[in-house]
Amino acid sequence: ANAPLILGVESSCDETGFALVRGRELLANEVASSVERHARFGGVVPEVASRAHLEALVPTLERACESAGVELDDIDAIAVTAGPGLMGALVVGVSAAKALALALDKPLYGVNHLAAHVAVDLLDSGELPLPAVALLVSGGHTSLLKVDHLTDSITQLGETIDDAAGEAYDKVARLLGLGYPGGPIIDKLAADGDPKAIRFPRGLTARHDLEKHRFDFSFSGLKTAVARWVETAELEGREIPVADVCASFQEAVCDVLSAKAVDACREHGVSTLLLGGGVAANSRLRSLLAERCAEHGITLRRPRPGLCTDNGAMIAVLGAELVAAGRAESGLAFGAESGLP
Ligand code: KG4
Ligand code: ZN
Repeated sequence: ANAPLILGVESSCDETGFALVRGRELLANEVASSVERHARFGGVVPEVASRAHLEALVPTLERACESAGVELDDIDAIAVTAGPGLMGALVVGVSAAKALALALDKPLYGVNHLAAHVAVDLLDSGELPLPAVALLVSGGHTSLLKVDHLTDSITQLGETIDDAAGEAYDKVARLLGLGYPGGPIIDKLAADGDPKAIRFPRGLTARHDLEKHRFDFSFSGLKTAVARWVETAELEGREIPVADVCASFQEAVCDVLSAKAVDACREHGVSTLLLGGGVAANSRLRSLLAERCAEHGITLRRPRPGLCTDNGAMIAVLGAELVAAGRAESGLAFGAESGLP
């Protein structure tokens, strides 16, 4: 018999995602992004994102059904991001998913967005060897997770105490006048720069910080250090070596991310590291992690970039796992939870 058909709904930030999954097979994955509407603000504006979700809901759902060749009636269960994320954005997706569940009389599962970033790997690489450590890096989150079981046991080892890694890229790009989103632009410019040109600080790596923040991150001091460096150079009338600044900033980010991720694997005796989130597209992060994982016999898993950024497929596949595990549905009695742990 066919595995149940699961609809996944994602709206936690600036991507409206609808996807259809059968078991671990991806049938459709449609994403509408409002990223351009936020460009002139240099970051996601919650109110603008919510409005964009409302507009994109129905057309994106229709595209997903069309591309999978299914009707709404064929759907067996619905999964939706309950949190964490922007409250107003989450509410749009949760309300839409509840309306669909009610109208179609199908079970509804509210799922954790971060757990879904981990589960999405099943679609590309199949069974995930457990336990695993996951490094999730995007514009909204920077977390190290220990994954003992996909649906039952994921614990957070650490997270950013201020800016997310992608947010740091976006802010540094903004102060250098490079455009938004900053990650891909800095990644490209850094290729022509010297990563050792400027020694920028590695947040939370000093001995006294490691005691309390072993697996936490901090990028706001780094952003300030870049701003200071640029200011000083301007005051002194020097030309800004943009490529060197980008490469040196990027090195500081990727050095800390990969060092702490590998340390987490070693401390917990884990030999699988999973990378997810928009910043997983970063060329330096990928090469540095690959190098350091190889040194320590750690297998690096990285879903294709289109599945690393926010999408409905990650929600659908986690929903499919919950259904397969025989978990009780959430029903209609849950709400969006911006700070879901
Ligand atoms: O996962 P994502 O698409 O959306 C959320 O933040 O939820 O991640 C977007 C973030 C942005 O901050 C963007 O600048 C960053 O990922 N990003 C990158 C690269 N591509 C996207 N950062 C560094 N290098 C990249 N190549
Ligand atoms: Zn995300």
